[in-house]
Amino acid sequence: MRILQGIDLVKVERMERMIDRTSGKAFLDRVFTAAEQAYCGSKRMKFEHYAARLAAKEAVLKALKVRPKKNRRLSEIEVRREATGKPYIALSSKSRKEFHIPVQAQIELSVAHEREYAIATVVIVVP
Ligand SMILES: CC(C)(COP(=O)(O)OP(=O)(O)OC[C@H]1O[C@@H](n2cnc3c(N)ncnc32)[C@H](O)[C@@H]1OP(=O)(O)O)[C@@H](O)C(=O)NCCC(=O)NCCS
Repeated sequence: MRILQGIDLVKVERMERMIDRTSGKAFLDRVFTAAEQAYCGSKRMKFEHYAARLAAKEAVLKALKVRPKKNRRLSEIEVRREATGKPYIALSSKSRKEFHIPVQAQIELSVAHEREYAIATVVIVVP
C-alpha cells in the first residue's frame, strides 16, 4: 500500500488576475470543468472557490509527484461535492492512466478558504 500526500495554497487575488488577464473562457475551460465553473460562478466570492479548486488540483499533482507542465489540462482533475458539501476529487480516465492511479485508490480532499487565501490538502491511498 502507498500513501501519498499533497498540499497547496493559492492567493485568491492571483486567481482573480489569472482569470481576468487571460480573458476568461479559454483559461477557465483548460483549468475548470463546466460543473466547477457553474458552482464557483454562482457564488458571491467566486474567486475564493476557484482558488480552492486550483489548490486542490495542484495538491493532487504534488501528492502524485507530477512535474508541472504548461499545457496540462487541469480540468482532467475535477473537484466535485457530496450532498453534504464535502468536496472530493474525480479523475478522468485519461489522468488515471497517466498518473497510474487504479480505480480502487482512495483520494481524500479537504479545502478551506478565507478572503485572501485558499488551501487544499489531499491524501491518496493506493492499495
Ligand atoms: C463545512 C464547514 C466546516 C466549512 O467551514 P467554513 O469555515 O464555512 O469554510 P471553509 O473555508 O473552512 O471551507 C469551505 C469548504 O469546506 C468544504 N466543505 C463544505 N461542506 C463540507 C463538509 N460537510 N465536510 C467537509 N468539507 C466541507 C467545501 O469544499 C468548501 O469550499 P467550497 O464551497 O469552495 O467547495 C462548516 O460550514 C461546517 O459545517 N461546520 C460544522 C460546524 C458548524 O456547524 N459550525 C458553525 C457553528 S460554530
